[in-house]
Amino acid sequence: MTYTLTILGCGVMGSAVLSAIYSAPKCTSEIKSLYPSKIITCNNDKEAADQVTDMINKLGESPNCITIDSTYGNNSAAIKQSKVIILALKPYLVESVMNDIKPFIGEQHIISLAAGWTIDGLSYYSPKISRVMTNTPAKYGYGCAVVAHSEHIVENEKNLVCELISHVGKYVELPEKNMDAATALVGSGPAFVLLMLEGLMESGIKMGIPLKESKECALKVLEGTAKMVELSGTHPSELKHQVCTPGGTTIAGLCVMEDKGVKSGIIRGVEEAANVAAQLGKKK
Ligand SMILES: NC(=O)c1ccc[n+]([C@@H]2O[C@H](COP(=O)([O-])OP(=O)(O)OC[C@H]3O[C@@H](n4cnc5c(N)ncnc54)[C@H](OP(=O)(O)O)[C@@H]3O)[C@@H](O)[C@H]2O)c1
Repeated sequence: MTYTLTILGCGVMGSAVLSAIYSAPKCTSEIKSLYPSKIITCNNDKEAADQVTDMINKLGESPNCITIDSTYGNNSAAIKQSKVIILALKPYLVESVMNDIKPFIGEQHIISLAAGWTIDGLSYYSPKISRVMTNTPAKYGYGCAVVAHSEHIVENEKNLVCELISHVGKYVELPEKNMDAATALVGSGPAFVLLMLEGLMESGIKMGIPLKESKECALKVLEGTAKMVELSGTHPSELKHQVCTPGGTTIAGLCVMEDKGVKSGIIRGVEEAANVAAQLGKKK
């Protein structure tokens, strides 16, 4: 048995999740039922729908033979046919768009990507809610997704979310109380890392390394360090001390960064983003 999935709002995040599911490697027959046979994408205007079609054409055929119907201005028709809905609208549009289609929602499973929308807030539309916080690297299969489920989600539905969403990159299940922190750490995280990348790049430029080479070096340092932490399983502090020769260059640089409050700036910045995410949730 297989089913139709709707992606309601197929912009930056909707397209990232769409391409991850569409291009997922061929699955075994035991888990075939977790994959949709058809995905309907819903947008507001033709241009956005055409962009989805272009993206799919570039991806070629789906290994799991998923077909795509890219639509605009016709949410209700899509919802009526669908067993599962991925909600990827901007948070401020969720209420009005969902109210319009509420008459066509029975007990469809809603997988929401919308920041600030709690399981309780979305339960007005369906009892079956899974909340996902992911990020833009998902488009390249290097995303991270933190997932929380409503109490009405049964084992098979959890497996479905895990199977589909894990293709964005890393899949982590946490209680909903951690979602504001996940919004800041995972959702906003790429912007914070890009700030650090920019800082490293511009340090090279300031000292005379050309832009292209500064960017290549800074990028490899970030990528290589992340891989080293992952592959070694060693705590970052220990790896940091391995770079610090007594009286050497690294400890001198770290001292200045500590003086400037780089680490506490990162911690407080992520915390502030989480506070804003919590405020978004309270407005619902
Ligand atoms: N971007 C991020 O880094 C990020 C990270 C984590 C979570 N999120 C969450 O992901 C969600 C989507 O964000 P986004 O950045 O992907 O936004 P986006 O690029 O603006 O995508 C939203 C899509 O919704 C469509 N839409 C607007 N009105 C609609 C309607 N009435 N019916 C159907 N579709 C409609 C838009 O289509 P048109 O262009 O046709 O209007 C657009 O393609 C948000 O809730 C956000 O909190 C985003």
